[in-house]
Amino acid sequence: EFFQPVQAPLKSKKVLVTAGPTREKIDPVRYITNFSSGKMGYAIAEQARNLGAEVTLITGPVSIEPPPGVKVIHVESAQDMLNETIAQYESSDLVVKTAAVADYKPKIVSDRKIKKQEGDARIELERTKDILFELGKNKKHQVLVGFAAETDHVEEYAMRKLEKKNADMIVANNVAEEGSGFGTDTNKITIYKRDGQSISLPLMTKQEAAKTLLLEALKLLPKEEAE
Ligand code: CTP
Ligand code: CA
Repeated sequence: EFFQPVQAPLKSKKVLVTAGPTREKIDPVRYITNFSSGKMGYAIAEQARNLGAEVTLITGPVSIEPPPGVKVIHVESAQDMLNETIAQYESSDLVVKTAAVADYKPKIVSDRKIKKQEGDARIELERTKDILFELGKNKKHQVLVGFAAETDHVEEYAMRKLEKKNADMIVANNVAEEGSGFGTDTNKITIYKRDGQSISLPLMTKQEAAKTLLLEALKLLPKEEAE
């Protein structure tokens, strides 16, 4: 306890990060997605690497470059992301689910381009699987961190997600607020933990926010046995 290596607190830890949006196909030329830029998740992957972790980044389609020194797995749909995440879950110590996973996907994916017709059209949607919920259900040794993107009632909704998904920490941000949310280089986050503790951080860069939340998550990891 007296000697803590300060340089690489996540050394020998495996950190799994999901980032970016998912893409749900409608037909060969169209899809449903969201405004996620991947910046927050990529910053978490980069900072986890800087803290000494072995990092795997599962990412939806984004326009930014992944940080060097992390293993990158590219996915498109929520289902692909679920499959890849489950495959990495057992060997992970810390999982950070930053990805903006689509909640719905088209019920039928047309294998031909859908032609326009007179009048209105509708696409029938069905729910995707909630990846974080699945991870929470099957949680063993892992520390599980989720995000909550909200425009209102941030604390209430974040606490509900913490509970329902059996996460250890929920990082909430108000995406309607200036400097927070999609596409920005900054974020104003609040961290909610299971013991009821919440930490409201000021507006900071996504890199700084990433490091701060990783150091908070680190506190929840099991202590190394003395050698
Ligand atoms: N999440 C997930 N799989 C989904 C949807 C969400 O793993 N199909 C994860 C996100 O990666 C995030 C957390 O759940 O870590 C919260 O996502 P969010 O969209 O804020 O919440 P939802 O539970 O989807 O609820 P809603 O969108 O209705 O607020
Ligand atoms: Ca959602």
